[in-house]
Amino acid sequence: MLKKIKKITIIKPDDWHVHLRDKETLKKVIQYTEKYYKRAIIMPNLENPVTNCTKSIAYQKRILNARKLDSNFEPLMVCYLTKNTSLKDLQIGFSKKIFIGAKLYPYGATTNSLEGIKNINEIYHILELMEKIKMPLLIHGEKIDNNIDIYDREKKFIDDTLILIRKKFPELKITLEHITTKEAVSYVEEHNSLYLSATITPHHLMCNRNDMFIKGIQPNLYCLPVLKRNIHQIALKKAISNGKKNFFLGSDTAPHFYQKKISNGCAGIFNAPVSLLCYITIFEEMNALKNFQSFCSENGPNFYNIPINQETITLVKKPYKNLNQINIGNNKIIPFLAGKTLNWSLETNEESFKKEK
Ligand code: NCD
Ligand code: ZN
Repeated sequence: MLKKIKKITIIKPDDWHVHLRDKETLKKVIQYTEKYYKRAIIMPNLENPVTNCTKSIAYQKRILNARKLDSNFEPLMVCYLTKNTSLKDLQIGFSKKIFIGAKLYPYGATTNSLEGIKNINEIYHILELMEKIKMPLLIHGEKIDNNIDIYDREKKFIDDTLILIRKKFPELKITLEHITTKEAVSYVEEHNSLYLSATITPHHLMCNRNDMFIKGIQPNLYCLPVLKRNIHQIALKKAISNGKKNFFLGSDTAPHFYQKKISNGCAGIFNAPVSLLCYITIFEEMNALKNFQSFCSENGPNFYNIPINQETITLVKKPYKNLNQINIGNNKIIPFLAGKTLNWSLETNEESFKKEK
């Protein structure tokens, strides 16, 4: 009989896809990311997008100031690409480590993407520079067109745009963000992990499109790319359990006020309070805990060419009851799996102290 694992210590993870927003929301939500993660890529799709070094430095400062006093959490910044992105600013930003990469949002694909890219050939000159200086390109991989079925947007993007970009710029380092389909899994798996990788979210691992409609429509499970059929969910679970280096953790935690999710149909799932606990649940279910650390803490830094963290964290098999909501002024944000109990939790200081004695 296999021994059941009750406790696991891994190198402290990084989250390669996080939306922290700004102002009061930033101040309230950052604690959940810094609790579990040493570093995170902070997505630049603010209402006023982070399109250059000056904006990014200012935003990073606001994030650093919002951390807990004893926190050593590091926000890693990316530049929001527009057709007017300055090559000089981008190059300086990358060489001075202001930016770890740049993000391509197709026009109209998701939250605050109206300054995004309408036609990929608008930015060939930018991609050429990025390939040359080895600056990673992070992609929201959905082709947007009213005639394309929403469930086919990711596959269409791969077929019509990604293959083209990779042919033209074969050494451009690309992260395909929050992949959701078996087609994306196969495409990424077939390529060299030096040039192509993908992030996978906890909600796309734990849910499929049925979950969005069970017991009435579930606005808190609406995100983009939208949840897919269970065959795709299964492909994602297999991808992470195989331990391939092309896949790493990117939670896409994306808080929106509940009222706005209802009235405007905003897309995004706030999973930071439980994201790591969800990932370990899936790795355990897939009998793949031996690959948990590489997905959470090694494949990402190796792809982005930065050191692996030194610190460790310990997760224990002990029930954890998730929050029901967080309040921000008169507004509330409902987390993923609100009020539910997970089987894993973070080891408390008290527990680790007992162990040392
Ligand atoms: C994200 C957001 O709200 O900023 N929403 C989402 O559904 N994932 C944007 C994104 O990553 O698409
Ligand atoms: Zn996102």
